[in-house]
Amino acid sequence: MNLSESFVSKLESNLPTSGNITCKSPSNIALVKYWGKRPVQLPENPSISFTLDECHTITSLTYQKRETKATEFSFEFYFEGERKESFRPKIQKFFERIEKYVPFIRYYDFVIDSRNTFPHSSGIASSASGMSALAYVVMKLEKEINPELTKEDMLKKASFLARLGSGSACRSLEGPITVWGKHEAIEISSDDYAVSYPFEVHDNFKNYCDTILLVDKGEKQVSSTVGHDLMHGHPFAQRRFEQASENISRLITIFKSGDLNAFIEVVESEALTLHAMMMTSLPYFILMKPNTLSIIQKIWEYRKETDSKICFTLDAGANVHVLYPETEKEQVIEFIKSELVGYCQKGQYICDKVGLGAQLV
Ligand code: DP6
Repeated sequence: MNLSESFVSKLESNLPTSGNITCKSPSNIALVKYWGKRPVQLPENPSISFTLDECHTITSLTYQKRETKATEFSFEFYFEGERKESFRPKIQKFFERIEKYVPFIRYYDFVIDSRNTFPHSSGIASSASGMSALAYVVMKLEKEINPELTKEDMLKKASFLARLGSGSACRSLEGPITVWGKHEAIEISSDDYAVSYPFEVHDNFKNYCDTILLVDKGEKQVSSTVGHDLMHGHPFAQRRFEQASENISRLITIFKSGDLNAFIEVVESEALTLHAMMMTSLPYFILMKPNTLSIIQKIWEYRKETDSKICFTLDAGANVHVLYPETEKEQVIEFIKSELVGYCQKGQYICDKVGLGAQLV
């Protein structure tokens, strides 16, 4: 039996009649980036991330058992209390991909109601928190049908399902650090789902902070699907995939030793490499804005002047994630307020820190 087959559920009897499950699931920020995938939603390289806390999606699933199995998936979708038809195709596709693993979903009429704690269209990817929340409530329903399902297996399968919705979403179920993609030094790692980082982590990384500077709140210039596709036939792709594995090996040593200078080097290099990949693909893109570069420059100056362990990372966009140890929180917030806020759209930023993943509310 291959791995994905082990997630196939045959449960189609003992289905609860009706109920509601509500959960919250966070966003995450990759330290080593996932960029490049092969069908279906399998990563070309392993990635590792901090699970966030404040930035999350709250999703409520109301379910009502049907008399007969539906021919089409039956669901209504509300976002922040309003019916959102534009979100349907993504959820429809998600249900199509997960049906094999959770066949009971055809026996229900669902009402899904979602909201984010971070500002809408803030340029913060909501697919990680949104898809992991949805996968989690579906798995909670499976747990009601099959109470013998262990918490561990439930989380693993929720991560597996979330991956089919959006790759990075599979890293949001657990925390504070998760790994997705097979890495030779991490025996439990898998391309099919993310796992909680299994090794020792130095106290320097406890409650690590992430302040997200909203530089550009516009529509994504490049969708992640298009972005990942750019790695097919990319002249530097193979070397990049190897480099990601090497950087995870470096992080394993760094997490143990607490070496923050080495941490900064890996994390900033990963962010710039992700953008370098986009600048050197065909078609090519520059996703940073002038203010992104100004912020990076200021962070480097501040680090030089103060010996702070502040650093930055980027997603596939212009916003900057400022990462720093909890011990520096006060000074860094002061620095952000006085030096960096001016580069943010409408002065907006979000203070977050590492968190523990999805949970019921
Ligand atoms: C740059 O997970 O959004 O944030 O699998 O197509 O949904 P899909 O892509 P997505 O890609 C995120 C890429 C990234 C880096 C990362 O989070 O690892």
